[in-house]
Amino acid sequence: MARMRRPLIAGNWKMNGLRADALALATGVAEGVKRAGWIDREVLVCPPATLVMAVSEAVKGSGVLVGGQNCHASVSGAHTGDISAEMLRDAGASHVIVGHSERRTDCGETDAVVRGKAEAAWRAGLLPIVCIGETLAERESGRTLTVLETQLKGSVPVGATAAKLVVAYEPVWAIGTGKTPSVAEVAAAHAHIRRVLTGLLPDAGVVRLLYGGSVKGSNAGELLAAGDVDGALVGGGSLKAEEFLAIAKAA
Ligand code: 13P
Repeated sequence: MARMRRPLIAGNWKMNGLRADALALATGVAEGVKRAGWIDREVLVCPPATLVMAVSEAVKGSGVLVGGQNCHASVSGAHTGDISAEMLRDAGASHVIVGHSERRTDCGETDAVVRGKAEAAWRAGLLPIVCIGETLAERESGRTLTVLETQLKGSVPVGATAAKLVVAYEPVWAIGTGKTPSVAEVAAAHAHIRRVLTGLLPDAGVVRLLYGGSVKGSNAGELLAAGDVDGALVGGGSLKAEEFLAIAKAA
């Protein structure tokens, strides 16, 4: 029986990759995915904006999907240095990450800004991956679930359905640190996210919830087996084809 929620393994390359290395990485992932012939999971890579088009060309026909790491809420106009969802789509993307904690911190993105970007993704025909997650201080003061609820309610646009939304839970303190919550803590956060989404979506039971934060080949199996975890958003572990493929295999 097909699973209700097809796992999505997404690589967020962040600000890494010049053309030659990035194309080698993309080709390595594409070859691995082709070889594996998975039909029960999706594999996505999100290169820096400069490489979305070249990576899209490089993975063509392999089944590997390509996404952006951010987009502007507007279609076009006087926004120097920004990229619209339509531009990502035009470059070959099918997905876009919005509201990553690094953008919330570096660029001051609020929940309302993130919501606008998710709406822009819909307008362009992209699937938004909306990121949420608590800081260490928030976790240590017992506010994790409240923070996640506030972020979800503020960042998920009205009109969302499971087909139009992916949510990534990324505890800020687990990103790039080698630390992860326990499997029980991940499951508790994801169960809470799904509960909150039940009030926002007609079909929250089938929306995919990704875990992100120090996912590696060695811990992917147990993290991905946690309740309500439907895939992973991978940073450092997505920069080597072998490691990323091992994570995808664990899904
Ligand atoms: P790391 O996998 O490097 O911890 O990064 C996670 C992340 O931020 C993915 O978006």
